[in-house]
Amino acid sequence: MTAPLPSGPDVRQAEAFELAECQAILADSILGQYFEPELAAQILGQARENGELFVAVIEGKVAGFYVHAPRGSFLVFSYLHLLAVRSAQRGTGVGAQLLAHLERTTLEARGYPFRPKIFLLVSAQNRRALRFYRRHGYLRKATIDDMFGEGDTEFLMMKDLGNKPNGR
Ligand SMILES: CC(C)(COP(=O)(O)OP(=O)(O)OC[C@H]1O[C@@H](n2cnc3c(N)ncnc32)[C@H](O)[C@@H]1OP(=O)(O)O)[C@@H](O)C(=O)NCCC(=O)NCCS
Repeated sequence: MTAPLPSGPDVRQAEAFELAECQAILADSILGQYFEPELAAQILGQARENGELFVAVIEGKVAGFYVHAPRGSFLVFSYLHLLAVRSAQRGTGVGAQLLAHLERTTLEARGYPFRPKIFLLVSAQNRRALRFYRRHGYLRKATIDDMFGEGDTEFLMMKDLGNKPNGR
């Protein structure tokens, strides 16, 4: 396992020139199975234009990224669409930093008067990601069979970020 980072990465909105790095990171992860390069380029490019693609940058290089649709769950709650860390940098806290950034952004956003929540889908096969999300307080709320293909089981996970003034 790699040594801990001396300081956290810079997490911010992605620049256009960083799209290729994000695409390479995606292709080099389990998520690459779901998206052909053309589709991946389209999704990442659109997310960047919408201001929904965030990167963790270490020494000028993209170490990981996430795509966040602020009303992507039921038109009300946050949806974490994609999260991936460069394979050589996994296990060093980059994923945790990206998740922390997402949660902060979600809490800071002005939204509906409900307790803010983040939803995401994760493959039942993706043990490492499941453990990672569970450790960060995401709970399994539903199982969806044959979601992206025959035999592909996905878990819908959710984190409740806490109280809002009206308590709902
Ligand atoms: C899932 C994923 C995003 C996690 O990112 P990551 O950067 O490896 O996550 P972290 O380093 O924060 O945490 C991973 C593990 O490393 C350990 N770790 C965290 N910080 C560490 C540090 N500074 N030093 C050593 N180990 C550390 C954690 O204990 C954690 O253990 P756990 O998996 O048992 O919870 C990453 O594995 C990935 O990109 N996977 C492929 C894509 C994917 O599956 N995405 C999710 C699809 S929904």
